[in-house]
Amino acid sequence: MQKPRFAIVLLLLAGIHLILESSFVKAAAPRKPDSRIVNGREAAEGEFPYQLSLRRQTVHICGASILASNWAITAAHCIDGHERQPREFTLRQGSIMRSTGGSVQPVKAIHKHPAYDRADMNFDVALLKTADRALSSPLGKVAPIRLPAVGEAILDSVPAVVSGWGHMSTSNPVLSPVLKSTTVLTVNQEKCHNDLRHHGGVTEAMFCAAARNTDACQGDSGGPISAQGTLIGIVSWGVGCADPYYPGVYTRLAHPTIRRWIRLLTKL
Ligand code: ARG
Repeated sequence: MQKPRFAIVLLLLAGIHLILESSFVKAAAPRKPDSRIVNGREAAEGEFPYQLSLRRQTVHICGASILASNWAITAAHCIDGHERQPREFTLRQGSIMRSTGGSVQPVKAIHKHPAYDRADMNFDVALLKTADRALSSPLGKVAPIRLPAVGEAILDSVPAVVSGWGHMSTSNPVLSPVLKSTTVLTVNQEKCHNDLRHHGGVTEAMFCAAARNTDACQGDSGGPISAQGTLIGIVSWGVGCADPYYPGVYTRLAHPTIRRWIRLLTKL
């Protein structure tokens, strides 16, 4: 019998490769809930100035966040296997539209976390280096987000905002043309480990968040989840999307092994 975790990873990888750049623009009324970021709402221009679209060969594959004018952060699984080819990747900044507006910047170097494990998604984080001052804009709408302190705890049931252009249901695997966000609540670590016990559980380098009928989904990976202006995590994995039995799983950026590695590379 196949290990369930292995099956999930296969599903995740299949998900990424299924994300097509098809512009199925059904002209949803702005800022009304719809079925794409599983019942979130559309962002206003400038609402998420740190949000990036990570593109491989011009196609949106994941979200990312600005840490500084020459550093972005994303999930390791978004770049896994391609970390030696930074030239395949670009970052769109300063636009709530997935495929237009703002500006597109080349990635100069990729640093995958050395402890990243694709079998269980542990340490699912990567840093993307750009040219100096590439991730900034005279027009505003572009700004870095602050990182948590080393070891900063995440309390239970804290509201956190996750954003991205990802799918909002497994039955409708279409990317959103407009950036969407939703609010979820952090889940007690032991409870989450237990909820996901048949899927390998969660490590200390992960945390969970969930809310009724809303979640991140395929295509949101690598993107931000923030609480009170701090980037507490990165969209990493889940079992389906918005399943009432399975919280979404995020990379825990305050984990000392992750936070110290970020500081070492970026001085941030
Ligand atoms: N791994 C997915 C991606 O590549 C993100 C999954 C998040 N799923 C969830 N239910 N929160 O885009």
